[in-house]
Amino acid sequence: METALKKSEFSWEEYFSDKKKGGHRFSTEEFLAKEAKEKLFHLSGGKTLLDFGCGAGELLIHYVPNYEKVIGVDFSRSMLLEAEKKVMQHEYRNVDLIFADDRTVWDELNVKFDRITATAVVQYLTPEQLEGFIRNASEHLSKEGKIIFFDIIDPKFYYLWKIGWFSQNFMSWSIFTGACLDCLKRMSAFLKNKPYDIIGNSYSPHLIEKIARRSDFHVEYVKSMYYEYRYHAILSKIS
Ligand SMILES: C[S@@+](CC[C@H](N)C(=O)[O-])C[C@H]1O[C@@H](n2cnc3c(N)ncnc32)[C@H](O)[C@@H]1O
Repeated sequence: METALKKSEFSWEEYFSDKKKGGHRFSTEEFLAKEAKEKLFHLSGGKTLLDFGCGAGELLIHYVPNYEKVIGVDFSRSMLLEAEKKVMQHEYRNVDLIFADDRTVWDELNVKFDRITATAVVQYLTPEQLEGFIRNASEHLSKEGKIIFFDIIDPKFYYLWKIGWFSQNFMSWSIFTGACLDCLKRMSAFLKNKPYDIIGNSYSPHLIEKIARRSDFHVEYVKSMYYEYRYHAILSKIS
């Protein structure tokens, strides 16, 4: 009983409350610019953009020159502060940053967006939250608008990545040691009442499809260019 109570006390909001970086593989300007370029390619235009879970603005800042209006949303004040610093440094005037979460954000918005995006955020939403997010986002999309979830964790590929499958010096015995380490990590997380993995939840493309279809979206999948175990989901309204 006590364990159950403690577990339910964990919240991602608290976890992110003092974070200042989005956890990209490299935090160099060069890498972030390349990542943003990949994302801009898949965003494929539009004039208005909502970047949900914008974090410290590491990607958002690269989106801004390509849009008339950008709104960044996050439930971490420390992250938003970092994003704000970047916006001010660049003297961008077409950006608003909003402190809100996946449920409260919709009341703060009075415009429609051509693109609603979220990078490395789906992993922190439960399937119910994700469904609510898509339903609400649908109401805030312009006619040909799209929702684009970048860098969703694919459960199969994430496991392979964790046991070293994609590493250059991968050896078969490392499957065994990788699996053992994974078990130990799960047990330790359970005992400490923490989530097993601070990377959050993985979602199979099948589950994303099932959830998106309930709000009349069809989904196109693209492999992530910089993360072996992640993929992007591009949601368009079924006409
Ligand atoms: C891994 S970081 C990615 C940040 C940014 N998208 C990037 O790629 O640099 C995830 C961000 O999503 C935010 N986030 C997670 N769940 C959220 C929620 N339910 N509502 C608002 N923000 C959320 C976190 O605060 C964090 O800043």
